[in-house]
Amino acid sequence: MPFYHRLGKIPKKKHTTMYKADGTLYKEELVSSKGFSGIYSNKYHIHMPTRTIEINELDKVNYRVWNEAPLKHYHFYTDKLKKDGDFFSSRIAYLHNSHCVVLAAKPNKNPDYFYKNSFAHEFIFVHRGSGVLLSDYGKLFFEPGDQIVIPQGTIYQMHFDDFDDNKIVVVESDTAFEIPKHYKNEYGQLEEHAPFEERDFKIPEYMDAIDEKGKFSLIIKAGHRLFEYIIPEHPFDVVGWDGFLYPFSFNIKDYNPKVGRIHLPPPVHLLYTTQHFVLCNFNPRPFDWHEQAIPAPYYHSNIDSAEMLYYIEGEFMSRKGVGEGSITLHPMGIPHGPQPGKTEESVGAKFTHEYALMLDTFEPLNPTLNVLDANDENYYKSWMD
Ligand SMILES: [Fe+2]
Repeated sequence: MPFYHRLGKIPKKKHTTMYKADGTLYKEELVSSKGFSGIYSNKYHIHMPTRTIEINELDKVNYRVWNEAPLKHYHFYTDKLKKDGDFFSSRIAYLHNSHCVVLAAKPNKNPDYFYKNSFAHEFIFVHRGSGVLLSDYGKLFFEPGDQIVIPQGTIYQMHFDDFDDNKIVVVESDTAFEIPKHYKNEYGQLEEHAPFEERDFKIPEYMDAIDEKGKFSLIIKAGHRLFEYIIPEHPFDVVGWDGFLYPFSFNIKDYNPKVGRIHLPPPVHLLYTTQHFVLCNFNPRPFDWHEQAIPAPYYHSNIDSAEMLYYIEGEFMSRKGVGEGSITLHPMGIPHGPQPGKTEESVGAKFTHEYALMLDTFEPLNPTLNVLDANDENYYKSWMD
């Protein structure tokens, strides 16, 4: 995160003594990124964070890789498939490359274990459902529209309030989700022209440290491999922390869209950047006001980025047949654009009510066999009259 935050009890200076009531020391843990050169936080644990009773390797995560996926435009329905489970075990992978994985899930239970993604940062879009994300940084309440960023290496759980109809979309990334530099001034503060402001971000709220002994199950994801660490103390034993590294969220409905006299390209919808892809938010907005403007996008070939769109709600101005929970994938190197009639339909339109999430990756995105199971097979023909 771009700003400093502190919660709970911490010593006046880093790397100095802070004693518990029994006269022993709290255990300081520095959680740092980019070695020691990126953002970091210092946490103060009741127990050593390194204590482990036992390690078991579990079955590998199976993304159902589709090696023979043809190069074509895809449209598939992420609401079609369902896997029982919690915020982690119910995930179904749809798209992947060597830097990211796109998954969707409909959690129908809460976890009885703790989870950590050791090799990837996670972005979680909450489409439906509400609850609380617990970590040793505190409580982060979530609701529909929230886009939660969880730094690599964070031990967390998501607890949903109920199990009627929850839906999340997850993007794993091997590099951090960052606020684009051009939204910030030289002091790191968000500039007035940025599409969001510091006060839009939800950050963890204080949670009492839990000092419990037992045998706690911590599932650690390391790429495709999963390990269960049995640890002797509750992992949320942090009495205080401070720094710039922590989970946070931003609601898509708080994004201030930019509009222009004629069509503006997707970079004006930018939310976060990583080293290997960008994430954008499309929100309801007035359309272009030039008297001859064509608000629908022109046909375009992104020669070096694959474009994924997740449709959240509203009318989608340039697409036929897509609905809530649809994903379209337009691979790099082949043109895409509005379907027949959509360009003409957009002329003179005043407003769009669409909400969508876009991912543009700089390396091809590969569909999994789950895409095949949820596929709209004739999508690539939808430009034929
Ligand atoms: Fe596009």
